[in-house]
Amino acid sequence: MTLVLKVDPERPERERIARAGDLIRGGEVVAFPTETVYGLGGDAFSPKALEKIFLAKRRPIDNPLILHVSGVEQVREVALEVPPLGRKLIQEFWPGPLTLILKKAPSVPREATAGLDTVAVRMPDHRVALGLIEASSRPIAAPSANLSGRPSPTTAEHVREDFYSRIACILDSGRCRVGLESTVAMVGEDKITILRPGGVSREEMESAVGAGVEYYSNREEPEKKFLSPGMRYRHYAPSGELWLSSHQKLEEAVEEALRISPRVGVITLGKRKLPAEVYSAGESLEEYATNLYSALRHFDTRGKDIIVAQAVEERGIGFVAMNRLRKAATRILS
Ligand code: TXA
Ligand code: MG
Repeated sequence: MTLVLKVDPERPERERIARAGDLIRGGEVVAFPTETVYGLGGDAFSPKALEKIFLAKRRPIDNPLILHVSGVEQVREVALEVPPLGRKLIQEFWPGPLTLILKKAPSVPREATAGLDTVAVRMPDHRVALGLIEASSRPIAAPSANLSGRPSPTTAEHVREDFYSRIACILDSGRCRVGLESTVAMVGEDKITILRPGGVSREEMESAVGAGVEYYSNREEPEKKFLSPGMRYRHYAPSGELWLSSHQKLEEAVEEALRISPRVGVITLGKRKLPAEVYSAGESLEEYATNLYSALRHFDTRGKDIIVAQAVEERGIGFVAMNRLRKAATRILS
């Protein structure tokens, strides 16, 4: 049985948050909303709870989790130190969609960090998430609340699809605002390296801290160890194919797809009339990002053989949407 509690995102009902907090303290797994996507949360200091998360998600145990804190003070419970550049980032972007990789405190179980000596930490910008962490009186470890290989959940309905009757509780506060995951960044002495692009952009970070920000790439040295274990896995793989098509090629792509199968779905920016089922993800890059994972799940659960997604401008959150689509795409038409 899974307890599903509706919670007002602006004024979370205290007794519902307290109930979920008790479950976390009891070592159970609770799915909760953040501003990016829903998380699958457990007590960051309980190896048993951490194991439940990995089992439920069917997540490889060498892929570490993000620890969620409700305030800057709580970082001390999980990390040894925050370098000066990290402090600047925290001041500027927390609470918000930015995860920092810091030196791990010894008290953090190795299950949370997959044996690494670093730990991923973030303070979410969502009242329900912050309330839950406070009610649990400890940091909450949480990956995105999807089965490994599925798109991250941006509604409680998505969490239900993947976990109903397999976790203790789901806090339902409707749709997540950003819709794509947080930026994961490593902070050095004088530069910042982005391991995963996300809700806070490189340009925003650069202008806020006045230091160099670069994207991590192991393309030149493929043998070089992956800095972020999660990047090794193919994230979202639809049961059918995913084609990524430019605005100009869209009609052509859909026609070609229809020659292969009648089960074709198209994700567009803005409204388009096309000879297949169209899911308009919105009018702006922000809306497209918010609705992208819903659109992918929509077509996936309806058994489309080919999903054609319209490429968007790689600016701001559009860059992040394209990062996720490129990773999942089996074909790119530009
Ligand atoms: O927006 C988000 O970040 C959501 C919400 C729930 O907070 N969480 C999320 O978690 O996307 P997850 O587990 O799906 O992705 C975490 C990423 C993975 O790619 C993982 O490998 C990386 O962060 N990561 C975690 N700990 C790390 C570490 N110590 N060093 C490098 N990468 C790390
Ligand atoms: Mg994930």
